[in-house]
Amino acid sequence: MMNWLDSHCHINDEAFRDDLDQVLDRMVENDVKKAMIISSYIEDFESGLNISHPEIEFKRSLGIYPGDVNDVDEALFERYASLYEDDRCQAIGEIGLDYHWDKDNKERQKEIFERQLKIAERLGKPVIIHSRDAIQDTYDLMKKYKNEGVMHCYSDSAEMAVEFVKLGYYISISGTVTWKNAKEPLRVIRSVPLERLLIETDCPYLTPSPNRGKRNEPSYVVYTGRKICEELGLNEEDFRKQLNENYHRLFRL
Ligand code: NI
Repeated sequence: MMNWLDSHCHINDEAFRDDLDQVLDRMVENDVKKAMIISSYIEDFESGLNISHPEIEFKRSLGIYPGDVNDVDEALFERYASLYEDDRCQAIGEIGLDYHWDKDNKERQKEIFERQLKIAERLGKPVIIHSRDAIQDTYDLMKKYKNEGVMHCYSDSAEMAVEFVKLGYYISISGTVTWKNAKEPLRVIRSVPLERLLIETDCPYLTPSPNRGKRNEPSYVVYTGRKICEELGLNEEDFRKQLNENYHRLFRL
């Protein structure tokens, strides 16, 4: 049996401080055997290096989150940039633009995003993109560079998803596809080729049904995976195999 995987989780978040061991055990019980741990802060990246389980393959990513750009000076930027060269940092992200929470610093967000895209291109490392209420600006900057990567927690239109696929990106679907009001996510999964799809929890956020309202965790990624199988009429084992191929291709494992 091929395993499930979580292409984007924050299990180094303080939400997991008290029961991480049980969270990891539940991953194994639910056959979630691979996960990409995303860090927005250097201290989290470093503490994330200590997370391990004999039956789970963890990979790690670091990036300056768009909501934090006002707090990043040159010295701090350089510390991130030197960690991007570290072999233990398999991807750069999440990076991108977020105009939902912050509209007053668009130029600074774009500058920090673009500089990170450039570094990723030079290093040949995949990028993990966060974009909220900023899809056109995100696309315009991404188009300038020859990166590969993933649109994490993709929440825009099916039409734009197709454009990102043309740029060479993957589309990662979160638990929102399981929610009752999900309409566009269902159009997205029908528009994107299977060899470009990924799934994720983004835990502790965006908990899929039927656990909505609780803290999210990597083992819940199976709800998202099964929902996609049901909607697309896919055999679960075939879909798991496809997800593993996509994950390995994207993150060069
Ligand atoms: Ni995230």
